[in-house]
Amino acid sequence: MDMEYLNIAIAKGRLGNKGYEILKEIGLSCKEFEQESRKLILTSEENKVRYVLVKAVDVPIYVERGAVDIGIVGKDTILEEEREVYEIADLNFGKCKFSVAALEGYSIDPIKKIRVATKYPNVAKNYFFNTGRQVEIIKLNGSVELAPLIGLSDVIVDIVETGRTLRENGLTVLEDISDISARLIANKASFKFKNDRIKEIMEKIEEIV
Ligand code: PRP
Repeated sequence: MDMEYLNIAIAKGRLGNKGYEILKEIGLSCKEFEQESRKLILTSEENKVRYVLVKAVDVPIYVERGAVDIGIVGKDTILEEEREVYEIADLNFGKCKFSVAALEGYSIDPIKKIRVATKYPNVAKNYFFNTGRQVEIIKLNGSVELAPLIGLSDVIVDIVETGRTLRENGLTVLEDISDISARLIANKASFKFKNDRIKEIMEKIEEIV
């Protein structure tokens, strides 16, 4: 394990940029991160920190396997990926929720298998399993709202933020599944061996968010 640096997986885009602003505020700034470039590993010698730019859904696997020590990722990805990592802080931004939605007027028939379209098959499977209902999961890669409109599915499991996408497509929330926000996650071995550094980060984040 590279003990000198703290390695952080972070997604490109809004989630990563907001996450970086928080880490910067607690002393983990990195000049290279703030420059326009195509580099995927950005280092601050001064703060002994290295940012690794990955796809948001890949953050948990980099952390689980110890390729990085910590990562910033949405709770949606954490729930879907089901990786062995510690969730060590709630960053309190990127707030939204997982919901079950359907066409206005639709109601679930308890004796029929529910057809569920989603980008989040594990989240959907777990939710319906835990509530004791039979489902058929239809995994899609986007535009999930379309599925009930054209009869591909009965309901969807998706992220709802403002509710606008649902509303404009004649869909409505049937049930809420769970709250989502950006989280900090840590590799289990790193948490042990770089505990002082990671604990300090947790404490400082607690103070500011
Ligand atoms: C998410 C989600 C909904 C939308 C909800 O999509 O899948 O489509 O946001 O937001 P709203 O409640 O504010 O309308 P996202 O933009 O992340 O892209 P995606 O279609 O690739 O999932």
